[in-house]
Amino acid sequence: DAAGPLSHRRVLVTAGPTVEPIDPVRFIANRSSGKQGYAIAAALRNLGADVTLVTGPTNEKPPAGINVVRVQTAREMMSASEAALPFDCAVCCAAVADYRPEIETPHKIKKERGGLTDIPLTENPDILKTLSKMTEGRPRLVIGFAAETDDVLGHAEAKRNRKGCDWIVANDVSPGEHCAMGGERNTVILITEDGDEEWPEMSKGEVARKLADRIAGALKGPALV
Ligand code: PMT
Repeated sequence: DAAGPLSHRRVLVTAGPTVEPIDPVRFIANRSSGKQGYAIAAALRNLGADVTLVTGPTNEKPPAGINVVRVQTAREMMSASEAALPFDCAVCCAAVADYRPEIETPHKIKKERGGLTDIPLTENPDILKTLSKMTEGRPRLVIGFAAETDDVLGHAEAKRNRKGCDWIVANDVSPGEHCAMGGERNTVILITEDGDEEWPEMSKGEVARKLADRIAGALKGPALV
């Protein structure tokens, strides 16, 4: 058992994109390298937490000493996350595809037949919202991320209310040299019940360590699970 402020705490981290198949060769996905989520999983482990990382496909090497569950789709991410319950804290850093093709076609859709111009979509389950709104056995601290391109703070605050999570970490994902999606650095605003805190630009590892320290502070007191 690792010593540290988070020893005996169970934490779920979701990371990476989800990949939603259209047919055997095509898919819908979001842009995410997994770097921020993997860094958070490592930082929490370094504080002694028992970490389960539920991850979509990425090129990142998973940190040692944590439970890694690899998934492809949002539905798989949802069931793997629920299977990891109970936990004290959830950090939903994954870029989950909001929609998936209604039907996964078992054969390659031929473009000559026009089958690719109109793909009916259906909404995916929302992991962050489901965990936040649990009535029994809800994790004590549920943290979401908000990937925004404009009015970052306004949209992130609205998202925190809509999803019902305790904290939300807002990041600007506008394309460009310093884009958070895929890049090495991130500039975030941490929104908690106490207000908004703008953190200066730093590496994803530093964001992860700062967030893990805040989580350790919030989970002080006897372990619930
Ligand atoms: O992976 P990197 O390249 O390092 O980039 C990191 C990141 C930019 C992807 C990450 O920091 C980030 O912002 N992750 C959330 C991306 C996202 O999809 O945000 P969103 O605003 O669409 O979703 C809001 C929150 O709901 C997120 O916590 C998301 O995990 C969660 N969600 C969304 C939809 C869904 N069906 N289920 C969810 O759990």
